[in-house]
Amino acid sequence: MIIAPSLLAANFGRFAAETIRVDRAGAQWLHLDIMDGHFVANISFGPEVVRVLRPLTKMFLDVHLMCSRPEILLEPFAKAGADQMTVHVELGDRVTRLLWKIKSLGKKVGLAINPPTGMPQVEPYLNQIDVLLIMTVNPGFGGQPFITETLPKVQQADAWRKEKNLHYRIEVDGGIDFQTAAECAHAGADTFVSGTGLFKHRNFKAALRKMQKIVDEQARIRS
Ligand code: DX5
Ligand code: ZN
Repeated sequence: MIIAPSLLAANFGRFAAETIRVDRAGAQWLHLDIMDGHFVANISFGPEVVRVLRPLTKMFLDVHLMCSRPEILLEPFAKAGADQMTVHVELGDRVTRLLWKIKSLGKKVGLAINPPTGMPQVEPYLNQIDVLLIMTVNPGFGGQPFITETLPKVQQADAWRKEKNLHYRIEVDGGIDFQTAAECAHAGADTFVSGTGLFKHRNFKAALRKMQKIVDEQARIRS
């Protein structure tokens, strides 16, 4: 089970120090939300931020592209040091090419799905991806409440994974705290993006450890 703290909830004036804090707390992944002010109604940061953070940590850099034209961003983020790039299924007939491009850059391949989008949309791509990112809030902003209606998608993703004998990770993103992390783990998620749910705690390390323990326990129960 992997926890991926989201830098979106960190102090934007101190990205380097915040990254080191997350690293020292023991996180394996760092989730980086890239917003273009078009695909979503917010702007975050670009490849230059990833480039300056890369030498500070060995954490796996999980780049989530909430962008209308990821075509122009894949190479810059790959060069900047991303380990994985995730594009949205809502981009329609461009998805196949985008997934192929990520793979050809030697990076792990992610596909994301928004809450209103149905799971049949992602089914054709399941054998081409390393991670399916199920949005559990509408993307654009941190700190939103978890949408419970997304849980059956996690169950569906897990059922397909077993049926089709595939090994993609199931990542949940949005409104993940101790409680909702447990619910998602119970439904079959194995990767948990958490921004506010971790950063709101004064003791980040203790919060991360607690969330890890909670999801590991769910995994133990399920196995
Ligand atoms: C939402 C982003 C999330 C965000 C989650 O648009 O994709 O990764 O950082 O933040 P929290 O955990 O605060 O909901
Ligand atoms: Zn995200």
